[in-house]
Amino acid sequence: MVRGKFITLEGIDGAGKSTHLGWLVDYLSQRGLRVVATREPGGTPLGEKLRALLLAESMHVETEALLMFAARREHLDKIILPALEQGDWVISDRYSDASFAYQGGGRGLDREKLETLEAWVQGGLKPDLTLLFDVPTELAHARLALAGNEPDRFEREQQAFFDRVRRAYLDRALREPRRIIRIDGTRSLAEIRAELERVLEALWR
Ligand code: TMP
Repeated sequence: MVRGKFITLEGIDGAGKSTHLGWLVDYLSQRGLRVVATREPGGTPLGEKLRALLLAESMHVETEALLMFAARREHLDKIILPALEQGDWVISDRYSDASFAYQGGGRGLDREKLETLEAWVQGGLKPDLTLLFDVPTELAHARLALAGNEPDRFEREQQAFFDRVRRAYLDRALREPRRIIRIDGTRSLAEIRAELERVLEALWR
């Protein structure tokens, strides 16, 4: 059995990644692939309970990081690894890069602590491809305001927080340019989709 591919979507809140998730699933399904779409924090019944806590309750940054990785451990065990092993492709709306960007960049948690958790929880498993949807923080903020949903605990953070999160994402993309592809999210949907098709093509080779 050929192992499936693991694709993750990342970006600051309001960068538009969720808009592209459904399209990506349809695109890959039309190519005859079995696709599992999931998200973090969440993706399992326990993970969704942890998500509800994480998005609502204030807590120490290390508690936040530990709960993110606790939800991830469950997600890997129950959803991601079984799917990949049976040849399905997995698309996750966020994964560990979000912990490095939000808890590391945004909240200033020591990168080595996050690397320890990463090595413990996921061993060597990294996504085959990470699509980083990148927009200036002002635009992301305006999009969230336009959507008009009640902001969660992260979305209520100041712009300076999102500037740090964005910078941390971009730094990671520079360090791992083969895995993390920056997608300029300020362009039209059609332009973004054309680029996504080109990027996905490379996964077949
Ligand atoms: P979402 O709104 O994209 O579903 O993500 C929920 C929030 O959780 C988002 O503001 C980013 C945050 N988050 C972290 O801070 N660290 C993580 O490891 C993950 C997966 C998400």
